[in-house]
Amino acid sequence: MKKTDIVNLLNKDIEGEHAAIIQYLMHGYSMGEGELACEIEGIAREEMRHLDFLADTVVELGGVPSFKRGDMRLTGKSVASWMKNDVLAEEDAIAMYTDHIKAINDPKIKRLLERILSDEKSHHGDFQHFVKTVERDGLKDIRGNKRDKVTAILDWGIEHEYTVILQYLLHSYLAPNEKMGKEMQDQAINEMQHLGWLSEKMVSKGGKPRIEHTKIDHSKHPSSMLNADIKIEKEVAAKYDASARVVSDPKLKKLLTRIRDHELYHVKVFTDLKKTIKE
Ligand SMILES: [Fe+2]
Ligand SMILES: [Fe+2]
Ligand SMILES: [Fe+2]
Repeated sequence: MKKTDIVNLLNKDIEGEHAAIIQYLMHGYSMGEGELACEIEGIAREEMRHLDFLADTVVELGGVPSFKRGDMRLTGKSVASWMKNDVLAEEDAIAMYTDHIKAINDPKIKRLLERILSDEKSHHGDFQHFVKTVERDGLKDIRGNKRDKVTAILDWGIEHEYTVILQYLLHSYLAPNEKMGKEMQDQAINEMQHLGWLSEKMVSKGGKPRIEHTKIDHSKHPSSMLNADIKIEKEVAAKYDASARVVSDPKLKKLLTRIRDHELYHVKVFTDLKKTIKE
């Protein structure tokens, strides 16, 4: 099989992982804090590691990781129906990895996919078990339909965080050196924290998180990537600052201020990184 064909298959796997991550996070955020939500968010983190392994492999093969998202199953009104959808998502993943393991001959990539497949089989069993436990624990969809000034700020924040997670991951995979790769990935992980905080806050404020993103920067040159990253960080730091001033809930004010401080830190990290990049 040609390298480009392998890249295409791995990119399909990445898109599937991406969809699973968002589907599981959405379910985890929407049932309220508790043991099950933590376990589901733990599974989403394993899917993030899969995405990372796959993206590194795509880069090693000379390709660019895909940041399209595969299909999600977000229908269903009960937590039990969500868990059934997650069982189906794992069945899709198992079928896809099984196919790709058969199709790809490279032993190192085969081994990686087999490792991921074993995780997916384990997740499949976990979600089947969760279908049973949610009925016992009587978990419900705790999201509301509220729309006000606060949910508008949270909506904006969630959209921004999701966008930069993807952008910084892409930039980390395209980085010319290990230092930039690692810094970009570290900041992407910090943005994942922000996404989680804001989504949980949205649910606790009676709203519904909508995890969609805006345009991702696809610059080819590292200094252009960093320019785009610095620009967006400056803009959002100012917007978090302004938002923190207008909200009255002290806990939300504290949260927005804390995120603003992280974004200002990101500006500095990216500015320092830019100095290490040759024009
Ligand atoms: Fe999985
Ligand atoms: Fe952020
Ligand atoms: Fe940031």
